Amino acid sequence: MPRVKPKAKPPEAESYKHPESESPMRPDVGTQAQFKKKKPPVTYRYDSSLSPALDWDGQNSARELGEWLLSMIDKAAALPSPHSFEKPQTFVNSSGKVVASVAGLQEAIAQFKALSKPLLNWAGKAERLSFDVPTLPLFVHERLSTKAIVDTLVSHKRDKQQTMFELFGDPQHSVTDQVLRAYEHMDKWVNRLILGDSLVVMNSLLHYEGLGGQVQMIYMDPPYGVKFGSNFQPFVRKRDVTHGDDEDMTREPEMVQAYRDTWELGLHSYLTYMRDRLLLARDLLTPSGSIFVQISDENVHHVRELLDDLYGPENFVNLVPFVKTTGKGAERLDTTVDFLLWYARDIENVKFRRLFAERGRYAFEKMFTHIELPDGTCRRLTKEEHESGSLPEDARLFKPQGLYNDSGSDEARFPVEYDGQVYVPPPGYFWRTNKHGFDVLKEARRLFGAGRTLYWRQYETDFSYTRITAHWTDTMPSGYASESSIYVVQTSSKVITRCILMTTDPGDLVLDPTCGSGTTAFCAEHFGRRWITIDTSRVPLALARQRLLTATFPWYELNDESRGPAGGFVYVRKQNKKGEEVGGIVPHITLESIAKNEPPKEEVLPDRPEVDNKITRVTGPFCVEATIPTPVDWEGDGVEDSGAVSAEERGSFVDRMLEVLRKSPVLRLEGNRTVTLRNVRPPAKTLSLSAEALVDATAHGQTPSLQEVVQEAAEKNGKALPLSAKPVAFVFGPENGAVSEKLVYEAAREAHAKGYSHLYVIGFAIQSHARELVEKCLEVVGILATYVQATPDIMMGDLLKNMRSSQIFSVCGLPEVKVRRVKAKTKTKAQSYEVELLGLDVFDPVTMEVQHRKGDDVPAWFLDTDYNALCFHVSQAFFPRTAAWDSLKKALKGEYEERVWDHLAGTVSAPFEAGQHGQVAVKVIDDRGNELLVVKPLSEAKG
Ligand SMILES: C[S@@+](CC[C@H](N)C(=O)[O-])C[C@H]1O[C@@H](n2cnc3c(N)ncnc32)[C@H](O)[C@@H]1O
Repeated sequence: MPRVKPKAKPPEAESYKHPESESPMRPDVGTQAQFKKKKPPVTYRYDSSLSPALDWDGQNSARELGEWLLSMIDKAAALPSPHSFEKPQTFVNSSGKVVASVAGLQEAIAQFKALSKPLLNWAGKAERLSFDVPTLPLFVHERLSTKAIVDTLVSHKRDKQQTMFELFGDPQHSVTDQVLRAYEHMDKWVNRLILGDSLVVMNSLLHYEGLGGQVQMIYMDPPYGVKFGSNFQPFVRKRDVTHGDDEDMTREPEMVQAYRDTWELGLHSYLTYMRDRLLLARDLLTPSGSIFVQISDENVHHVRELLDDLYGPENFVNLVPFVKTTGKGAERLDTTVDFLLWYARDIENVKFRRLFAERGRYAFEKMFTHIELPDGTCRRLTKEEHESGSLPEDARLFKPQGLYNDSGSDEARFPVEYDGQVYVPPPGYFWRTNKHGFDVLKEARRLFGAGRTLYWRQYETDFSYTRITAHWTDTMPSGYASESSIYVVQTSSKVITRCILMTTDPGDLVLDPTCGSGTTAFCAEHFGRRWITIDTSRVPLALARQRLLTATFPWYELNDESRGPAGGFVYVRKQNKKGEEVGGIVPHITLESIAKNEPPKEEVLPDRPEVDNKITRVTGPFCVEATIPTPVDWEGDGVEDSGAVSAEERGSFVDRMLEVLRKSPVLRLEGNRTVTLRNVRPPAKTLSLSAEALVDATAHGQTPSLQEVVQEAAEKNGKALPLSAKPVAFVFGPENGAVSEKLVYEAAREAHAKGYSHLYVIGFAIQSHARELVEKCLEVVGILATYVQATPDIMMGDLLKNMRSSQIFSVCGLPEVKVRRVKAKTKTKAQSYEVELLGLDVFDPVTMEVQHRKGDDVPAWFLDTDYNALCFHVSQAFFPRTAAWDSLKKALKGEYEERVWDHLAGTVSAPFEAGQHGQVAVKVIDDRGNELLVVKPLSEAKG
């Protein structure tokens, strides 16, 4: 195998590239206002023959279909062979939908049989023969590259613009190209972290990018559809999520008020949620692809039925229980495992690489029952030897292995003489080798007779590994390379790594629509696979980003560096000083190789490629994307042509948001304080506002004011609001877009004119100009405004149960930063700058005061030293007061001065030179994963 050694490496950080792979250009988020390439929603249909069990009582629609199929069978049977109709016959149900179509007798019989198969049924399944998914483009919000960060810190300069962008994997398309050629032009591949509902994102991958049939493996670890709160972590730095009931939680605002795992119709909604996503996942898989679904014992049987429905029972590969805990003291038996359901897209073509595990003590005890002593005598191990594992000196452990097959010809039933005894296979059995083979086995002293049976001796040293089975007992998270857990429901890397290694090759694409803390992306990166990972929550996404950005991996040698991992890793056979096989290729002596006098077979251990210890590998460039398209102005001013949402659609979105606000009338502020709203309702007559409400200040421990008491009494009596009560106004941003400046301006003007006391702008994202206007609203329009971030989880739609949680809306602050000039330290003597994060200012709409939070008290902040207003390039990434960068620092062995790393754990950036855009952007990630952005021109720098 050709081994291309990378050039002698300084201890720099290197990463893998994927030069052979491409993906369609996604536009930068800064171009969203111009983006015009809208697409209609896609309708997905289920095969009607897979509707619920045939039920002959009265109304059931399956009865009608059954009767129709019977009539088709009659009709087709009367036709001459092959009993095909001239054109396919269709069955239309009472709502006018085509639910079945048959071309002839065979199909009609098959569909009739399918009808009577017992199938999993649940409320709403039969009605959901099809569903629509909006087709949204993905915009690139951030580009990240650990190498770029490390390089910037070392050189402190910006004279290698091109190289920097290359490090980010940013093709630097002009705005015109991004607007006109998005999704047409092909770019070099970069890995992807995507914020959004997996259904919408997978639909975008299929229909904007044509990624159908290109994903080699999907790992899905969805909510298990069981206990409340078991899959949701609302804080970046707080991992303990306790199960409890919703009411208890609301009384303890400190605790998680999660809702992610509760569903409107419980299990019924859960199954619908899973089925829709599994359907789209199937379309993404290559013909040789696999999907793994991680699930607990509560719903494993239902999810398996779903997968049978969608992937076909014949494509079931394995059900793998894997140990995840030692047990928690259950009343009866402790459950210690979760399960992996493994299905192939097509079992005949599935890609499979066998994995082996080193034989442990268990195997020694159970498998190798005999020893051969130096004088050639053989005997069974004694009980003591078995238990203690201590054997006589130079004894060789072996296992007597069978020499028969249950098929063969009479020629393979000859007598064999050994040690004075003659052996023949029992009736119906045949020797596994021929006469010559027996001669070789005798010569090699490999035969062993016991009673009337002849065996061959399989020595322990013939192969020191066992095939991995579908029962994984060594997967307890703590037992694996002291992996520390950052997310409440983090999967052990060992589990996902195995799935990746079994079903993909280096360079293949792996997708995880349930990113969490990014374990799949992390394992895929580790083994040189390309990856896409999706999550609808900001907290897990923030955790995954940090984990990937600060990780280090071994450098696996590449067969062909110009091809990247797609050219394969280098595997070699090698032994250590003790003569043990320690390479990625190990010998495997088999009966066949001995009998044929051939060199032993060689097995490749996919998890043991050659490592070049001189190179420190970091995560390659990746980007953060989201399903947030064009911001839309709602007032129906003729923007429909650009694909804007119709007034009707907007109306239904506003209604839904109103409902959510009514059910979760709590705005969360810094420091676990809240503002509670009362009497949330649509304003009587409005042009730009979405809702109005009263603010309940008791949440702050204040007693209600006289005004509020009067107000409440007035409400109870059904009277109009007293003018003095001054309700607050709300405007909701778009469902699939960022809040625009225009939306804020119009809403603020109306709110001011109508005498509201305050304007709350609620959105999933906000443009930076719009954010600026919110901050300066009192000055510009005359009314105070506050931006409230809504969690994207709301977009999971009707399936989610009443969202009572106060985690839904949070009031975000604005970063307070200082940009300073610093003395140039570089040879060029060019002016250098530094940025300090002073803190986070959060406006408290109740006390009307600004709360300040110190800069070193945020989970993370990022700096783009040359912000182009299109996409955020993370040139420096800070995780204050943490050891996040420690592993990289250690790997680079003091190559960089200590103060370089100090910057990355603090609030002051490393010095940098001005770039072509003359401005910097600072992004702060708060505890809820919200992103707060501020842009500063360098011309404002002091000092
Ligand atoms: C059990 S966790 C995955 C944990 C992951 N295996 C790890 O090792 O960290 C499930 C994740 O799926 C996300 N999720 C649930 N429903 C989703 C959806 N419809 N779209 C995208 N993400 C979703 C949740 O936010 C959660 O982070």
